[in-house]
Amino acid sequence: MTSAGFASLENEVMCVESNQAILADVSSGKVPIFEPELENLVNKCIKNQKLQFTDQIKDVLEFAEVIFICVGTPQAEDGKADLRQIESVAIDIAENLHGYKLLVEKSTVPIGTHIRLKNTMSRHLKGKIGFDIACVPEFLREGNALKDFFNPDRVILGIESENSKKLLQDIYKDFECPKIWTNPATAELIKYASNGFLAMKISYSNMLADICEATGADVDSLIEGIGQDSRIGKEFINPGVGYGGSCLPKDVSAFIDIFDQNNVNNGLLKEVDSINRLRPHRIITKLKSSIKNLENKRIAVWGLAFKPNTDDVRNAPSLEVVNKLIEEKVTVNCHDPQAINQFKKALNKNTNLTFFDDMYESARDCDALIILTEWPDYMATNLDELKAKMSNPLIVDGRGIFKPSEIQKSGFEYKAFGLKENNN
Ligand SMILES: NC(=O)c1ccc[n+]([C@@H]2O[C@H](COP(=O)([O-])OP(=O)(O)OC[C@H]3O[C@@H](n4cnc5c(N)ncnc54)[C@H](O)[C@@H]3O)[C@@H](O)[C@H]2O)c1
Repeated sequence: MTSAGFASLENEVMCVESNQAILADVSSGKVPIFEPELENLVNKCIKNQKLQFTDQIKDVLEFAEVIFICVGTPQAEDGKADLRQIESVAIDIAENLHGYKLLVEKSTVPIGTHIRLKNTMSRHLKGKIGFDIACVPEFLREGNALKDFFNPDRVILGIESENSKKLLQDIYKDFECPKIWTNPATAELIKYASNGFLAMKISYSNMLADICEATGADVDSLIEGIGQDSRIGKEFINPGVGYGGSCLPKDVSAFIDIFDQNNVNNGLLKEVDSINRLRPHRIITKLKSSIKNLENKRIAVWGLAFKPNTDDVRNAPSLEVVNKLIEEKVTVNCHDPQAINQFKKALNKNTNLTFFDDMYESARDCDALIILTEWPDYMATNLDELKAKMSNPLIVDGRGIFKPSEIQKSGFEYKAFGLKENNN
């Protein structure tokens, strides 16, 4: 997205990609992920000769003065951010560097990574060659990437030299949003602080849903009631099966580690994480409150992507829920408008699982339907058609997409986060 975005703003962009399959795809204008409008943009930029691809860092170093590092920083087994891809890029750049470059961290990296990068570079440079490191973290949301790239709420620019500032001012000249100039350490921290806060809002809302379930308070009014407060806002406060995806879970985990490394209390973040981890299990508990023994039951799961408008299933609640169902010897019928292929790769199991292109067919003869992603198609469900297909009209809705009163009128047993069990 970053390369196509900058290329479409009349910059000359060369992208280096080490994965040959991905490189072959993107070079021919095929985007290997589902992201609305991105493929059109990439093709337009390739056609206008503003965007090109290579697998050689040397090509990029000859071509550009500013290099954005956008490689993955996944969660390591111990919960920290795994910086091996960043390290490897730094070594590659240093070994091939012949003149000044500005290296910009776009990947989400723990505070202090710019120093680590500098040290790695210095160890591998072949001679006394100048370079700067800056940090401009990425805030775009998958499924909304184009809009977020071109209309960010703000751009954070962590720099250490006048030259870095000059180069970045030019690159970001078309962005009219607030620009916050700071140092690289603070820029690195801002990204985690933002994602930690968003995760906290979600877990807080999930905690509120639990108290509604226990007391019978109306969760929808409660969310509306707090969301109308402009200090709180309406976004990221819908209760449900929790956050997933390639960013929030790993970033909260890495943020917890950053506090640990600095001996600063991180109890709040740990609780945010632990509330979230329990959400997929709660789906199974809700299911079992209606179907005590799940063995040999047939259950449909709608929504494998971690959120709508993406095919990304990294850390998606669907992985945990489907795995649990398989453990319980359930026959699982899966549907998702975009994410079936990614899900098959991520789950790496095929027993007791069938995948459907048609959402209604996936519910045929099912004892229950579980909804895990709020895709627009699901929100527009024809409830009569759905009910006619199912052998038992039970919906466990992990995203609260239906109004309880309306769905119960249609004859469904309906379970969702925040609804008191004996009201269901
Ligand atoms: N995905 C998002 O929506 C999003 C949003 C904000 C921030 N971020 C951050 O951006 C970073 C990248 O995220 P992602 O989801 O795109 O990761 P990803 O793993 O999907 O993509 C990284 C790409 O880098 C390539 N790569 C790895 N090492 C390389 C090397 N040495 N040379 C060339 N290419 C190399 C990989 O082959 C892969 O295609 C992460 O730090 C993430 O936290 C992502």
